[in-house]
Amino acid sequence: MDATTLHLHTGFVVDEVDPRIFGGFLEHMGRCVYEGVFEPGSSHADEHGFRRDVLGALARLEMPVIRYPGGNFASGYHWRDGIGPKEARPTVRELAWQSIETNQFGTEEFLQLCRKLDWTPMLSVNLGTGSPEEARDWVEYCNAPAGTRNADLRVEAGSPEPHGVPLWCLGNEMDGPWQLGHVPAAEYAIRAQQAAKMMKDVDRSIELVLCGSCGVQMPTYMDWDQEVLGRVGGLADYISLHRYVDNRAGDTPDFLAVTNAIDRQIEEMDAVCRFVQAKRKSPKRAYLCFDEWNVWYKNMEMDGAGKHAPHLIEERYNLEDALVVAGFFNSFLRHADVVKIANIAQIVNVIAPIQTRGDEMLLQSIFHVFEMYTKRKQGKALRLAVDGPGYDGTWNGHVHYVDTSAVLDGDRLHVFVSNRSLAEAAPLRIAVADCDIVGASQCEIVTGPDAKAENSWEAPDRIVAEPFDDVRVGGGGAEVHLPPLCVAALTFELA
Ligand code: AHR
Repeated sequence: MDATTLHLHTGFVVDEVDPRIFGGFLEHMGRCVYEGVFEPGSSHADEHGFRRDVLGALARLEMPVIRYPGGNFASGYHWRDGIGPKEARPTVRELAWQSIETNQFGTEEFLQLCRKLDWTPMLSVNLGTGSPEEARDWVEYCNAPAGTRNADLRVEAGSPEPHGVPLWCLGNEMDGPWQLGHVPAAEYAIRAQQAAKMMKDVDRSIELVLCGSCGVQMPTYMDWDQEVLGRVGGLADYISLHRYVDNRAGDTPDFLAVTNAIDRQIEEMDAVCRFVQAKRKSPKRAYLCFDEWNVWYKNMEMDGAGKHAPHLIEERYNLEDALVVAGFFNSFLRHADVVKIANIAQIVNVIAPIQTRGDEMLLQSIFHVFEMYTKRKQGKALRLAVDGPGYDGTWNGHVHYVDTSAVLDGDRLHVFVSNRSLAEAAPLRIAVADCDIVGASQCEIVTGPDAKAENSWEAPDRIVAEPFDDVRVGGGGAEVHLPPLCVAALTFELA
């Protein structure tokens, strides 16, 4: 393959990277909560019932923010069911996933977990079967000082001080007919506006995520977003985007070119935000919150069949999926000026980087890519000029073989590069126009024998991050030799 050159300049900055783009999502779905983060009966359980092994793995992902409790689950959830003495909490039939919910894990348990792992909590209120007032009351429970009805429920639960939950989602995927309480845009906008006003009246410091159209394939895409943004106006700090991508067609080159579609979704959504801002003649800009994203298509089991903690959508991830996950991160970094929050869906067992089986735990291919990126999230995202060979995806259009993003952290430069070629190595030259690359440190790579290679219980370490030394610094730049199908994270020193 001909060489690719990546041209950078430390003055050409997209924006400061918001670390919250490395967030996660914990839903009461399948075995994400129960048998995932929380399993009092496990030999790994700590005194609160949290699984130490899972928490240890999650700590490595350094997720700054976690969305909870759903997802579709949120649209049938009544937060009062999950507070107070555990023995008095109701067991309920959960309709989003046809499961049994015992409510043994609720608001206090989630917030305790957030403190343990240094996560910023992001709560999704129920705007499906719940009311704007119930949402307002939850803000009071979490954030108001003691002395009023809902805040005192928190005090009774053992938390005298407010939790200060800063981020709240106004419902979930409300344009989807599958959603409990699904309504047309105008009706959702009224609910969201009423809830937003009261929630902010309880705590002026909170930020709100308006529910955007749940996918580019939806007939409501863009119209929904324009209407709800217009009606909810300045109360919306962010609007949500969701994206699950797949390789059902078995077309790996096109699957790896999906980065074009992700870039496009971000740019279209930002365009709606800017359009509505201009129409409203408002100084306030709504930013993007990509609060569900991942690869998901191999396991579509979504019927819990009346069980507690059923095995639902326990997707197995391979090497090509790891490249696509890197592609999502590259796209978020390239759009650091508009994407301020993103949450991989989900964090354990359910379409997740971590799986449990009894007391065992497995780290999937995407775990290792996530870890390589999250370690390097501090700094400013740089603009990129890529000059090199590419190919045409069947549906996703033309892409370079080398997908990339870059973060400048003082005199350190982090460059993320994937080689999408299935068969050929990609020679890469990195040139920083206004300074020299003088050293390389901490270079890592995730690769494997073929696109479908994955970690399994029998072979848990087939796809891991390994030190990468095919990097040569000289003449002020760097030369890298990327093997086929790989993701590399390279840290350089600049002078
Ligand atoms: O993450 C799984 C589900 O996907 C979420 O609950 C829902 O919001 C989306 O459709």
